[in-house]
Amino acid sequence: MQKITIQTEIECYENSDELHASEQHLLKLSMEAKDAAYAPYSRFKVGAALLLDDGTIVKGNNQENVAYPSGLCAERVAIFAAGANFPGKQIKKIAITAASMDFPSDHPVAPCGACRQTMLEYELNQGEEIVIIMKGTTGKTYRSISVRQLLPLFFHEDGLKSK
Ligand code: THU
Repeated sequence: MQKITIQTEIECYENSDELHASEQHLLKLSMEAKDAAYAPYSRFKVGAALLLDDGTIVKGNNQENVAYPSGLCAERVAIFAAGANFPGKQIKKIAITAASMDFPSDHPVAPCGACRQTMLEYELNQGEEIVIIMKGTTGKTYRSISVRQLLPLFFHEDGLKSK
């Protein structure tokens, strides 16, 4: 038996002021997206703001439904909107913020597994890494230089093809 060690690294900032001004701006836009989320069931709002290579911003937020599994996470709402409306454009960065409607959230919320897998496919297809920035209402900010860093052991289409 062998053990495989998989290493991943996330940058952690005490204060989002330490980020480049353009990334602070992207975080601000993700907060605006968060505030517009439709989350009456979980009362947990998530917002995502994507920066495309031509400077276009695409926003998304979680959209819930009374038939619970029909809802969709903010990250996938945003990335699918980018794929649908701006096909062929590269995604440079995604800022994600999250907050409960009932209690303060003082730490970054990392994207769920399904969103990581979804974002990763865009990253692999475009051949350029996507920076992911995460923040709660207050507290630390996490910054990952790629989606791959967030999902190092991922499912890949090679697994669908016979050799
Ligand atoms: N949610 C997101 O929008 N993104 C994630 O990565 C995890 C969870 C949403 C889904 C649901 O509307 C609420 O947060 C509570 O799970």
